[in-house]
Amino acid sequence: MQEKINQYTAEINSFQPKDAAELETFRIRFLGTKGIIKDLFEEFKTVTPEEKRVLGKVLNEFKQNAEAKYQALKESSETAEGNSTSDADLTLPGEGYELGARHPLSLVRKEIIEIFKKLGFNVAEGPEIEDDWHNFSALNFPEEHPARDMQDTFFIKKGGEKGDIALRTHTSSVQVRMMEAGKPPFRAIMPGRVYRNEAISARAHCFFHQVEGLYIDENVSFADLKQTLFYFVQELYGEGTKVRFRPSYFPFTEPSAEMDISCTICKGEGCQLCKHSGWVEILGCGMVDPNVLENCNIDSKKYTGYAFGMGIERITNLKYQIKDLRLFSENDVRFLKQFKSEMI
Ligand code: DAH
Repeated sequence: MQEKINQYTAEINSFQPKDAAELETFRIRFLGTKGIIKDLFEEFKTVTPEEKRVLGKVLNEFKQNAEAKYQALKESSETAEGNSTSDADLTLPGEGYELGARHPLSLVRKEIIEIFKKLGFNVAEGPEIEDDWHNFSALNFPEEHPARDMQDTFFIKKGGEKGDIALRTHTSSVQVRMMEAGKPPFRAIMPGRVYRNEAISARAHCFFHQVEGLYIDENVSFADLKQTLFYFVQELYGEGTKVRFRPSYFPFTEPSAEMDISCTICKGEGCQLCKHSGWVEILGCGMVDPNVLENCNIDSKKYTGYAFGMGIERITNLKYQIKDLRLFSENDVRFLKQFKSEMI
């Protein structure tokens, strides 16, 4: 029996299974209910008491050795299996975060700024909470004059050193701040958000964005204004885009005009966007009224200048044909991510 045990011990110690099936065969052969160890214990019952004393210890050690070997082999095969059968290809790149896209209004604002920068315009900004003086009075809106009703105002506070406090209704207020703070010449564009008390619909919103333009120097003429805006339109909408000026009225410019461009969709043929006229309005402009210059302590005998103001949403709609203004402020990523390729 001792000899058999020695042989089996050698076999167990050198055993190296190729796979899980071989290990299982090993378990059945030695540790199974009809296995070698079971048989040896049966045989043990038949040996003499003297032999039992020696063999008892040997047999128990043999059994423990076989069990330990089996456990160790099983554990190492399980960890190996865990690695090799996993589907993960660790060489694959990770899942990246989806890149955000610039807002279409930011893209167009940037484009507008870039064009005017080429003409030597600076960029300036002013506060969104404004007093009556900067938003209305200095811009030649007479007290109690219906012109103030042209823009439905969100008032914040009645009274104050410079009149009622309100959310600015246009970026023209920044013109005043700029002229008050410095000395001519001025050549700047002023982008920003403006607010009007309007019911929200596809075509109107209670806040939107404008870019104001101002050029004040000696001998500035309406011809300068026309050429500047003509250049702007060629750059933004492509060469060959036509412009036309229609007489209009704004309290802060004299003469005043509105500028139309040939429809970007139908190229002047007539479509729904231009209401079959072939033209779409894009901005208001004019020569700065001498009263405005004097209100800002600028000598209107010496200096003249022009101003213009445009809505960024409108310019963007014409570029991308966005039909509902509300899309701009709803933050729906399905809408926003369409502008990804336009990243600048
Ligand atoms: N502030 C005007 C508006 O919000 C737009 C405008 C018109 C601005 C004529 C100007 C201008 O500077 O000259 O409707």
